[in-house]
Amino acid sequence: MQGKVIDQFYRHQDLHNQALYMVIASTRWFGLRVDLLCVPFITCVALASAGFSMQPAIAGLSVSYIMETLDYTQYAVRNFSEVENLMTAVERVITYTNLESEPGYKTKALPPKHWPCDGHITLRDVSLTYYEGAPQVLRTLNFNIEGKSRIGVVGRTGAGKSSFVAALLRMPDAQGDVIIDGVKITDINVKESRRCISVLSQVPVIFSG
Ligand SMILES: Nc1ncnc2c1ncn2[C@@H]1O[C@H](COP(=O)(O)OP(=O)(O)OP(=O)(O)O)[C@@H](O)[C@H]1O
Ligand SMILES: [Mg+2]
Repeated sequence: MQGKVIDQFYRHQDLHNQALYMVIASTRWFGLRVDLLCVPFITCVALASAGFSMQPAIAGLSVSYIMETLDYTQYAVRNFSEVENLMTAVERVITYTNLESEPGYKTKALPPKHWPCDGHITLRDVSLTYYEGAPQVLRTLNFNIEGKSRIGVVGRTGAGKSSFVAALLRMPDAQGDVIIDGVKITDINVKESRRCISVLSQVPVIFSG
């Protein structure tokens, strides 16, 4: 388990570094272009000060001023582009905040105290589709699971075993009635109904050795 987490961490770290490297490289690329753009300006000022045979002090001052001005201009342009880059994360978060929340959050009704006590589950004509226009993953399921009993759900990969758990957790809400200990779960607040269900992650091995 520890090895798996470390592997996953390294994978995420690599992905992050790839993106970060691109950001740093493109910023340097941009900086170099801006530097090159400044060269003609400085050349013009240097030539003009020599051509108009100014006093050496004034020529030096004008060259140092133009260099300083261009330095600040570059700094400002680089900062603008960096703000634009970093604002992508903010834009993304703002987009997420504008997403419509699951309908179950609007239901304010709470389950009874100590619900569920037995874990009696009844499914009546339960069908599940993940999104509009998607194929039905669960089709008109009707069965009873006695409370305090242990059951196994078997099926080939893609048969809909995890989708059954998704229907219990209302991810998304299934059509039909899922009734746990006499309470139709779509009648209560989604956060409260999820709080009462525990899920252990899927492990492909039942018996070891
Ligand atoms: N989030 C999802 N969005 C759209 N379709 C999905 C989603 N999750 C699963 N499906 C589809 O639902 C069907 C059932 O998948 P499900 O994950 O429930 O199968 P499973 O029996 O748990 O398979 P496995 O044994 O591989 O875990 C599959 O055709 C799958 O492509
Ligand atoms: Mg599964």
